[in-house]
Amino acid sequence: MTIIVTGGAGFIGSNFIFHILKKYPDYRVICLDKLTYAGNLSTLKSVLDKPNFRFVKADICDRAAVYQLFEEEKPDVVVNFAAESHVDRSIEDPGIFLQTNIIGTATLMDACRKYKIKRFHQVSTDEVYGDLPLDRPDLFFTENTPIHTSSPYSSSKASADLLVLAYYRTYGLPVSISRCSNNYGPYHFPEKLIPLMIANALNHKPLPVYGTGENVRDWLYVEDHCKAIDLIIHKGRVGEVYNVGGHNEMTNIDIVKLICKELHMSESLITYVSDRKGHDLRYAIDPTKIHNELGWLPETKFADGIKKTIQWYLDNREWWETIISGEYQNYYEKMYGNR
Ligand code: NAD
Ligand code: TYD
Repeated sequence: MTIIVTGGAGFIGSNFIFHILKKYPDYRVICLDKLTYAGNLSTLKSVLDKPNFRFVKADICDRAAVYQLFEEEKPDVVVNFAAESHVDRSIEDPGIFLQTNIIGTATLMDACRKYKIKRFHQVSTDEVYGDLPLDRPDLFFTENTPIHTSSPYSSSKASADLLVLAYYRTYGLPVSISRCSNNYGPYHFPEKLIPLMIANALNHKPLPVYGTGENVRDWLYVEDHCKAIDLIIHKGRVGEVYNVGGHNEMTNIDIVKLICKELHMSESLITYVSDRKGHDLRYAIDPTKIHNELGWLPETKFADGIKKTIQWYLDNREWWETIISGEYQNYYEKMYGNR
């Protein structure tokens, strides 16, 4: 079995590569990644020398490069993690989100058609469903919830999902889609809530909470997401969408306070800043379908996962300090300087 993993130098894609190489030592895994600001080759250093692993630096929008790779490797399965993934960046500059997330997905699927792959899996997000009200805890996203997006990021991901389903219906491409809630864990880029708060707290910098801090996200440990994708590509039905989430809703402010507590830091660093434009209120996944059909259940409880994650950031300071010492400084100043 040969799998192309796009975006494998990023947060979830790298964790997925580690999972697959460990669980299926006879599989060949090729990582196709453009190495944008969010991609980091050092993340993959423990697998770079494996004979059944290959890293290729390329853009998923580059048709010639993508076709050449497919010609060389004749993959069975393609799992598409490659994306621009940060909502705040999409609000500042939507163009690259449309390019990578929509055009890139279509380019990959054209290659999948040409080379007759067995499965194209699109890693999507619960954000395609928009948000839920804070005062209706009885409501959850199911696979039948209408697409209703808020940000340029979620709109670009929803557009890609529609194209994936269109390629299934029109060309019979064997596709599947997973829509997962917020992930956390090792190698999470420090612009996102949990790693940003850990890094800032460790550097005694303000902890910027948007708006009231009452927005709710549904957190899943990254390994549980990787296991769900593993199940879907091996046993999931073609043409289907599977929601992935572990019923672990928390307000942002509770997450930030928990990080302070775990790090034995005072909450005085918490600083409320102006809200994100169009800020989604609440995400909450109903994972009944993937549980009933594929037997998936989350294995890591949040209380354990957040401890493991914080310990990882303590043990791997060099990884994130290198990131926040570079170009990221300019981003941080632009996004938080006058907030
Ligand atoms: P990330 O930003 O950490 O990593 C994205 C990776 O894609 C990087 O390695 C980057 O270099 C690569 N990439 C970007 N543009 C590319 C291009 N044009 N060609 C090739 N490679 C390119 O993202 P992540 O958090 O790991 O998310 C991975 C996927 O999972 C995304 O599709 C995202 O929409 C989805 N997702 C993320 C979450 C989450 O909580 N992080 C939740 C649900 C779904
Ligand atoms: P984020 O990690 O960007 O994920 P997403 O927006 O895709 O869910 O943000 C998670 C939540 O945390 C979201 O409600 C915005 C909020 N947030 C802050 O309050 N402060 C921050 O500095 C960041 C990055 C996010």
